Order: sequence, then structure tokens, then C-alpha cells
Amino acid sequence: MAIEHTFSILKPDATRRNLTGAVNAVIEEAGLRVVAQKRIHLTKAQAEFFYGIHRERPFFGELVGTMTAEPVVVQVLAGENAVAKYREIMGATNPANADEGTIRKRFALSVGENTAHGSDSLDNAKLEIAQFFSGNEIVG
Ligand code: RTP
Ligand code: MG
Repeated sequence: MAIEHTFSILKPDATRRNLTGAVNAVIEEAGLRVVAQKRIHLTKAQAEFFYGIHRERPFFGELVGTMTAEPVVVQVLAGENAVAKYREIMGATNPANADEGTIRKRFALSVGENTAHGSDSLDNAKLEIAQFFSGNEIVG
């Protein structure tokens, strides 16, 4: 199977609680490699663009507010079937519905503070990676 790249955000609830290393351990134990990573503070414009698909949803304002409140860690993860694999190890959006052992089951506080983002398709992964990383920042 081909090696894929997917895009990940360790959300503000993870940075605030000093959990970025713990989440990265789960990522690496699952066989995904962190091939790019940086800690940034998202601007309102960056968060609104990133989650633009949800612009009309009632939770959009709260989502942008939460994502811009504190720093995040943006990442590129590489591995076989990386897009689907990362979604699987993240678990369901609402941690109450997430499977045992998943990142959201283990660490998330609520649907709004659910610790990690992962791309939902290979096409979106490419777009999301390009929003935050240039090619020479991704080192496999
Ligand atoms: P993400 O994009 O962050 O990886 O999460 P996802 O695919 O599992 O979920 P998505 O439907 O794309 O929703 C994006 C983020 O919006 C917040 N949300 N809040 N209050 C609510 O009902 C609600 N629904 C979604 C979550 O933080 C979710 O991760
Ligand atoms: Mg999503």
C-alpha cells in the first residue's frame, strides 16, 4: 500500500494540558510518523478558512473561538493508509462515542475540546497540509 500524508492539529485543549507528547506517543505507537510539526497560534482568519466547510453550522463561532484561544501544534503524519488510520486512532468526534484506547476517548474533554483534528480525505489532506507547510518543511 502506498504511503500517504495526512494533516493533524493537536488542539488547544492538548497544548493547555501539556498532552502533546502523550498524543504523539499514541500516533507513533500506531505506526504513523511525524514528518513535520510546529507550534503556532492560529489567527481567526486561519481558523475560519480551515473550518470553512462548517461556516453555516451553529457551532462555527464557538469552534473558531476555541481553536484560536491558545496555541496548537500542526503536523504532517506519514504512513500506510495514514488518512483513515489517523481518523481511526483519533476516534469519534464526540468523545462520549469514541472507542476505548482512541485519542479522543483517552484525552478529549468534550465535542468542542476533542484534542485532535485529522483530515477526512486524501484530497483534503493535501489542501490542509498546503495551508500550513511548505514542501521543504516536510521531512520523511
Ligand atoms: P475535525 O475536523 O476537527 O477533525 O473533527 P471531525 O472531522 O471529527 O468533526 P467535524 O464534523 O469536521 O467538526 C469539526 C469540529 O467542530 C467541533 N464540533 N462541535 N458543538 C458541536 O455540536 C460540534 N460539532 C462539531 C468539533 O470540535 C469537531 O472536531
Ligand atoms: Mg472534520
